Amino acid sequence: MPSGSAPGKVILYGEHAVVFGEPAAAVAVDLRAEVYARPHPEWRADGATLDDPKYAYVKAAVERGWRGPPQWLEIRSRLPLGAGMGSSAAVTVATLTALQGMSGTFSRERVALEAFEVELAVQGRASPIDTSAATAGRGVLVLRQREEGFLWEVRRGETAWQVHAVDLPKFQLVVGTTGIAAPTGPIVAGVRERVEKDPRARAAVERIGQITLEGVAALRRSDLVTAGVLMDQNHALLNELRVGGPMLESLVKAARKHAYGAKLTGAGVGGSMIALTDVPEEAVTAIEEAGGRAFTVSVDREGAKVGP
Ligand code: MEV
Repeated sequence: MPSGSAPGKVILYGEHAVVFGEPAAAVAVDLRAEVYARPHPEWRADGATLDDPKYAYVKAAVERGWRGPPQWLEIRSRLPLGAGMGSSAAVTVATLTALQGMSGTFSRERVALEAFEVELAVQGRASPIDTSAATAGRGVLVLRQREEGFLWEVRRGETAWQVHAVDLPKFQLVVGTTGIAAPTGPIVAGVRERVEKDPRARAAVERIGQITLEGVAALRRSDLVTAGVLMDQNHALLNELRVGGPMLESLVKAARKHAYGAKLTGAGVGGSMIALTDVPEEAVTAIEEAGGRAFTVSVDREGAKVGP
């Protein structure tokens, strides 16, 4: 059966600020979404119509990425929903990959650009970080300018994001999920309002952009101490943007005892946090004792893939 698959992601530095064009860095993680397609008289996703709000991203992907006859889509995802791990982006990218694979038009750049448009249509406002990480796999760095490793440019009005592949030396990441599902759209809208009204929020966004560049440089030279301190600082600035939450705070504090640094990852409020550590078992235990669910993640090396 034709299929497409794509990984989830965690953002290392730069969430929210990237929506305003600031740099951000993410790694794709080895939890994937898979979409299988077979012809059917009417469109279905796991048996439901595409008008079911649960399949808003799938519907938008079909509308942008397919001119052929209707299909029955089966969606399998190992990514927790609303957990800041890019589940919507992975499903969107996997759907577009399956559809482009069937029409013989698959290209990573085309998938990344269409997936960004899908997120934008469903969420109202977005950056390309989640969709590009799900498409490219490995490490992804979004910058204002083009540098070595340039993959593609994503544009929206005045904002242009230059998406790069970045190969980082090995490091260990633990993810802690709060279990609180937090939809990205309204959180991103809240940050926009704050940034438009409050110069301190605007300054926080700019500082997060600098932290991303410093953090990626530290990871590149395997300076985990500095990379961890910068994660802590990034987290504090996200709290200033008011996208933290009490549960995230407990998990971050618990993890820091066994980590170089820790921060919320993704849209925040609920969702997940990450810890940079070389004692992952201790960090996992600490996060679970604080009430979260925790696991180590490895970097996905494949990105979007067309199935047989
Ligand atoms: C969500 O994973 C990341 C945000 O920066 C939104 C986006 O970039 O589209 C909060």
